[in-house]
Amino acid sequence: MAAKIISGTEVAKQIRAELKDEVSELKEKHDVVPGLVTILVGENPASISYVTGKQKTSKELGFHSIQDNQPDDISEEKLLGLIDQYNKDPKIHGILVQLPLPKGINETKVLYAIDPAKDVDGFHPVNLGKLMIGEADYLPCTPAGIQQLLMRSGTDTNGAEVVVVGRSNIVGKPVANMLLQKQEGANATVTVCHTRTKDMAAHTKRADILIVAAGKPKAITADMVKDGAVVIDVGVNRIGKTASGKAKLCGDVDFDAVKEKAAAITPVPGGVGPMTITMLMMNTVKSAKVHAGLI
Ligand code: GUN
Repeated sequence: MAAKIISGTEVAKQIRAELKDEVSELKEKHDVVPGLVTILVGENPASISYVTGKQKTSKELGFHSIQDNQPDDISEEKLLGLIDQYNKDPKIHGILVQLPLPKGINETKVLYAIDPAKDVDGFHPVNLGKLMIGEADYLPCTPAGIQQLLMRSGTDTNGAEVVVVGRSNIVGKPVANMLLQKQEGANATVTVCHTRTKDMAAHTKRADILIVAAGKPKAITADMVKDGAVVIDVGVNRIGKTASGKAKLCGDVDFDAVKEKAAAITPVPGGVGPMTITMLMMNTVKSAKVHAGLI
């Protein structure tokens, strides 16, 4: 039987409608407008596309939003100075530096420079440390989006065998940590596979919930998936060109074959992507409320 399609577009739409109401109420009752700056260094086409989506959504929700474009030869010192300026700006509640950064700029140093209280990406070690002990203030957006998709699609994570493919700091490691917490939407038994895993299929075939962030098209084929599994595809691979000249997007999962075996699956595009942006908006609204002393 073909899988149920878990639409990130639909779930994101619901959450954004809730957020829009919250933003209006914040403005009317407390004169608070959530402020977000997205800093883009250089002209990586994928990064431009991500940042454009983040800006568009923040404007639709009524945020004060700033797109700060910097040349790819900006010095690390100048970038750190810019971050410091936004750390001190009372109108800004969320600072996002789009990754990857050009060679020559120390990514870790840049992420450490963001005030953890404005780190709406959830990448600062303070926020990642809090996540690990179950005390998160700001969850990283893609893992948070995955957890929301699981919860809102009625997928029970309690005691489930979750297999995560990929161990990045942005997706694999944080989502694995989140799903093993003793918390609602978690309590899973989690395995993390990566490029040195000996028999990947032996692990993925055990998964009740399979989360794939491998960065490779068709990394997961139907023979690697258990009947009735829930499959979350985090991959965003740009391959070939459509008639309009744009690159075609595909995930890390062989969607057409796996959907015949899984109980539920996220599509690419329209799965995890819209959720990532929505979680960024949710974190920014939360930060605005914290900064205003409302929570
Ligand atoms: N690059 C790819 N995904 C992300 C993300 O979620 N946040 C930032 N800052 N950069 C990214």
